[in-house]
Amino acid sequence: MACRVTRRPLSPAEQRPVSNPISIEPPARATVHASFLVNGERRETAIPPHKTLLEVLREELALTGTKHGCELGECGMCTVLVDGEPVLSCLLLAIACMDRAITTVEGLADGPALDPLQRAFAELGAAQCGYCTPAMLLTARALLHRSPNPAREEIREALSGTLCRCTGYLKIFEAVELAAARGGSRADA
Ligand code: FES
Ligand code: FES
Repeated sequence: MACRVTRRPLSPAEQRPVSNPISIEPPARATVHASFLVNGERRETAIPPHKTLLEVLREELALTGTKHGCELGECGMCTVLVDGEPVLSCLLLAIACMDRAITTVEGLADGPALDPLQRAFAELGAAQCGYCTPAMLLTARALLHRSPNPAREEIREALSGTLCRCTGYLKIFEAVELAAARGGSRADA
């Protein structure tokens, strides 16, 4: 005769709490108080010291005009100006930029008045998907500040570190030239 084994349910007292032996609580991350001068405004926040400028701008200061790309220093999408010079914000620790003047694309327009570069990009169709546009605008802004009437080759060289998948660059070069012809070097860049 076959022997049948029946299982009775375990009572609560017999049940063992199920625990995952490899689950480890993440350590609490230390933060530091940080103060940034962004687009002419003082911004205070608490950040983990390992965060890049790109992460802090987007995630802590809600300035999402600066774009994520490769995060390896190769595509130029994350370009912002620090003390007027284009930098790759994905490679820079945010805490290294405290008390330096940071300009993002949100700071280009003067209230409702667009920067001459923004107007020229819009008029000539130099922005298509727009993903590279903040980096192009800021890099071109720094160029026009140091060289108000750049030659085509100078523009090409200045923008060569910023990749655009859409426009083929011609419209972008033309837009920079148009802004320059209109006196596009702003003193506050
Ligand atoms: S995201 Fe590509 S260079 Fe910074
Ligand atoms: S406009 Fe689309 S990547 Fe440049």
